Amino acid sequence: MSATPTAAERIAHLRSELDAHNYRYYVLDEPSIPDAEYDRLFRELQALEREHPHLVTSESPTQRVGGEALSVFGEVRHEVPMLSLGNAFEEEELLAFDRSVQAGLGLQGGDLFGGGASVEYSCEPKLDGLAVSLRYEHGQLVRGATRGDGSTGEDISSNVRTIRTVPLRLQGEGWPQVLEVRGEVYMPKAGFDALNARQAQSGGKTFANPRNAAAGSLRQLDPKITASRPLEFCCYGVGQVSGELPATQIGMLEQLKAWGIPISRELRLARGVEACLAYYRDIGERRTSLAYDIDGVVFKVNTIEDQQQLGFRARTPHWAIAHKFPAMEELTELLDVEFQVGRTGAVTPVARLKPVKVAGVTVSNASLHNMDEVARLGLMIGDTVIIRRAGDVIPQVVQVVSERRPADARPVLTPAQCPVCGSHVERTQLVKRSKGKESFSEGSIYRCVGRLSCQAQLKQAIIHFVSRRAMDIEGLGEKSVEQLVDEGLVTSPADLYTLTFEQIVGLEGFAELSTRNLLAAIADSRRPSLARFIYALGIPDVGEETAKLLARALGSLARIQQALPQVLTYLPDVGLEVAHEIHSFFEDGHNRQVIQQLLARGLVLQEEGELHAEFAACATLAGFIDKLNIAGIAATGAKNLAEKAGSLEGLIALSQDWLDLSVMKGLNEKAKQALREFFAEPANVALATAIDAQLRAFGMHWQSEKKVLEGLPLAGQTWVLTGSLEVMSRDVAKDRLEALGAKVAGSVSAKTSCVVAGPGAGSKLAKASELGVRVIDEESFLAELDRLGQ
Ligand code: IVH
Repeated sequence: MSATPTAAERIAHLRSELDAHNYRYYVLDEPSIPDAEYDRLFRELQALEREHPHLVTSESPTQRVGGEALSVFGEVRHEVPMLSLGNAFEEEELLAFDRSVQAGLGLQGGDLFGGGASVEYSCEPKLDGLAVSLRYEHGQLVRGATRGDGSTGEDISSNVRTIRTVPLRLQGEGWPQVLEVRGEVYMPKAGFDALNARQAQSGGKTFANPRNAAAGSLRQLDPKITASRPLEFCCYGVGQVSGELPATQIGMLEQLKAWGIPISRELRLARGVEACLAYYRDIGERRTSLAYDIDGVVFKVNTIEDQQQLGFRARTPHWAIAHKFPAMEELTELLDVEFQVGRTGAVTPVARLKPVKVAGVTVSNASLHNMDEVARLGLMIGDTVIIRRAGDVIPQVVQVVSERRPADARPVLTPAQCPVCGSHVERTQLVKRSKGKESFSEGSIYRCVGRLSCQAQLKQAIIHFVSRRAMDIEGLGEKSVEQLVDEGLVTSPADLYTLTFEQIVGLEGFAELSTRNLLAAIADSRRPSLARFIYALGIPDVGEETAKLLARALGSLARIQQALPQVLTYLPDVGLEVAHEIHSFFEDGHNRQVIQQLLARGLVLQEEGELHAEFAACATLAGFIDKLNIAGIAATGAKNLAEKAGSLEGLIALSQDWLDLSVMKGLNEKAKQALREFFAEPANVALATAIDAQLRAFGMHWQSEKKVLEGLPLAGQTWVLTGSLEVMSRDVAKDRLEALGAKVAGSVSAKTSCVVAGPGAGSKLAKASELGVRVIDEESFLAELDRLGQ
């Protein structure tokens, strides 16, 4: 038996374990342990280093964010200059490059059969980020520098250390004493979107594109800011090297990869220029589905000796070239801003642009999302703007070129009246709750108050109502809905159920048979599940998942209709804002009337029934007290109070009983005082009593925390399925997870509990790893289901 390791040994072991896991995760792309296990090892190392500070070294994985903020970057001279690349835009330019390479290598004249000789090229995507040089001495990262003017750059050592794909020390053995690694620091698209969303929410600066975001993040004087940004590194070459490296470009990169340096997964060898063109086309087709932005591909003569023979011209090598793709960003003019009215009445500004070709597609419109976005961009009509098309996403206005603003530029004004129905347009409100009180502030969305009397909203509402995932009425396309509305045959979803043969036949596209089919489809839709029906109503912010949740948890239309916003927030993932949307939707007289008509015209909702255990499980007395948001009473205090009081009446009584409350343990004086004051306010007592009464009327009773834990094993968790699952279909996987109490969401956020990733997983996987969300493969998922008894 070996002796217990010393702290120093354990620390060394943990560091090499963590380095090895990082290598498998970032370089090989084959994670070997669950994230939770990685975190456990990391925390153990942190704890040991805290106990033994003299054992902390700069290359420890815990030391990525060590440096203090600088006031200015130091200068770094590049012993081997950092070059740039010549560009080819057309095929002919690439062919010319290949001919010049052949000439330079004395290969012209072709082979025995008269054809051109084939030069071997390494091929990689041209990442759109910024070039950096990382210097390793004796295998340790000693410095990171920007390219600068190619000869002198800036010292950004503390910043590059925070990038998790940059190894702090090299793996394996045999590395030269001095090794400068060159590559691109970039921000993956998912990380960019998440960062911009975060920045917008906190009122910070948003970035026009991932490249600007990467540059802005890397050139931060405070490395802590860089550390919070989702940057990655990919190597494509070397600078100063003190020893020998393999004799080819690809061999060299493979060697660097073995030492732990990430290189492109798309690195390939091409024999001859035709193979280069095929590579260019292949990457071009996959361009939008890659996890990062690229602006072309780079071809390099593969044999290093040949590279040396070909040499350089000024700042670009004769042996490499960038074959560029069409730009994803273009300049154009903002001709006007129009306002569109959507299903929920949201009045959305849309940019009308002077048509411009962006990466092969003519763009003449772009959504501006909302007026906050217009303000953030500082947009005026007549401005020259940068349009960006990111993948399949709709084109976006990312920036105003303010220098080009014409003298007659006009401001963009929110219309006071709906452009379709003329009703008043009002600004939505944001709801916040603190200290038990709700407060409202102005939101960024404007809404036409016309509801279904607004033709634009009515059309969209009906299109949504009949759609496949809602009431699933086949045969009613957008055009037919528009006709029905324009002819005045349908003024609300309920009117669909009184349509007659005579009314429909003869409308454009409706002959006898199609009319009969449509009427049959309408009749067939009369027995929707409660969830479908709720979704079909088109309540703002209530998507399919929320509709399912409402149906499953509350079990009946009556309960959903009556539910107080504060009660709705007991449901996992229903925030105050959504709760208020739901509540005010059902408060609205017109909506109530439509629902009543629908039921009167023969709609029968399925699966109405009991209040679900899941809901009961969410509603504990401690949770209730916690939600009252009384100053100084957090989760633990709420739990102690719940145990002591047992019910709301008990709690109110306790708050009024000086002696009893004074001697109570587990709550400090300030919190006790806040509790007394809270219930001294009659409005607070009334609200708390109303919530309590409704929860009871719904058949729920306060339970102890212990009971809740006995509930569903995955209650409160949110899972995401991505990529293709091989053993189990996604639908089945989803059902199983839901049966265990988990919610299955379509996108990854910081609240996601776990992501199940199959082959082909893309941006969701990237986002999960960026946010540090746990990721498992299908095999572990099946094992976990087994374990949970499904
Ligand atoms: S090679 C001597 N390879 O493009 C060769 N550059 O336009 C120097 N870049 O400064 C560069 N991906 O920032 C090379 N696979 C790649 C690249 C790449 C992106 C950037 C790099 C460079 C610029 C030159």
